[in-house]
Amino acid sequence: MTATADLWHHYGRTRAERDRAVPDAFHWAWSQDGGPGCEVLGDLTGRVVGDLGAGAARHAAHLAVHHEPAVIVAVDASPAQYEMATDLFGHLAPRLRIASSDAVPHLQAAKGAKATKSGYDVLYSVFGAVDFTDPRELLPAAAAALKPGGRLVFSTLAHYANGAAPQPDLVAADVPAKTPEGETASLRRWVLQEQVWVKALDEAGFTNIAVDRLPARSNGPRAAVTLLVTADRQR
Ligand SMILES: C[S@@+](CC[C@H](N)C(=O)[O-])C[C@H]1O[C@@H](n2cnc3c(N)ncnc32)[C@H](O)[C@@H]1O
Repeated sequence: MTATADLWHHYGRTRAERDRAVPDAFHWAWSQDGGPGCEVLGDLTGRVVGDLGAGAARHAAHLAVHHEPAVIVAVDASPAQYEMATDLFGHLAPRLRIASSDAVPHLQAAKGAKATKSGYDVLYSVFGAVDFTDPRELLPAAAAALKPGGRLVFSTLAHYANGAAPQPDLVAADVPAKTPEGETASLRRWVLQEQVWVKALDEAGFTNIAVDRLPARSNGPRAAVTLLVTADRQR
């Protein structure tokens, strides 16, 4: 494995070959088949919205087509995901903007950038960058990129996908991944107890922090409980 291998090369690839549709619904839950939807983001009309770790941009495409944000920026660090998103949903420009970047530098540059120069109104992540980036870097960058009172919403695992308990401290664990060539690799994932997220968000400048537990919708081996976290940037 090389240090620069794109460990998201395979993610969503099979689906992209057979399903090019803009999804009719937006789901936060791990199972992606129920529970609360994008109403949790608030009214998006005229808003500047960002999806952090958007993957193939299916959630962002839904918002671009079924709502009326001023712009929605789908940010992903994986070149493979960026290419997939562009192929599937590039035609939704200019309302949907697909950005190839790590979320942290993207957020740090947001206030000077053309599409987002007065900041984001809403940022969200569906098992995206928030799960795979040190919260001590990502959360302050998100707070700084949001307008005062702007909202961050993310869904994340309440426990590891294999059922192991979440961390009681702000630490990551290595989880299995595959290189584009199919070799075994690992990447860092932050799977944290609720109060650890709350403290990290508080320290990053967020307020009105709330955590909802979305139950697993089946008992299969891939079933998992989701934490749905909402927070507002301090005014
Ligand atoms: C599990 S996938 C979820 C993708 C999408 N949100 C979905 O629900 O299908 C995680 C995604 O987060 C992206 N990601 C992880 N860390 C990131 C970071 N620091 N900046 C931008 N994207 C990141 C990965 O490249 C990957 O596409």
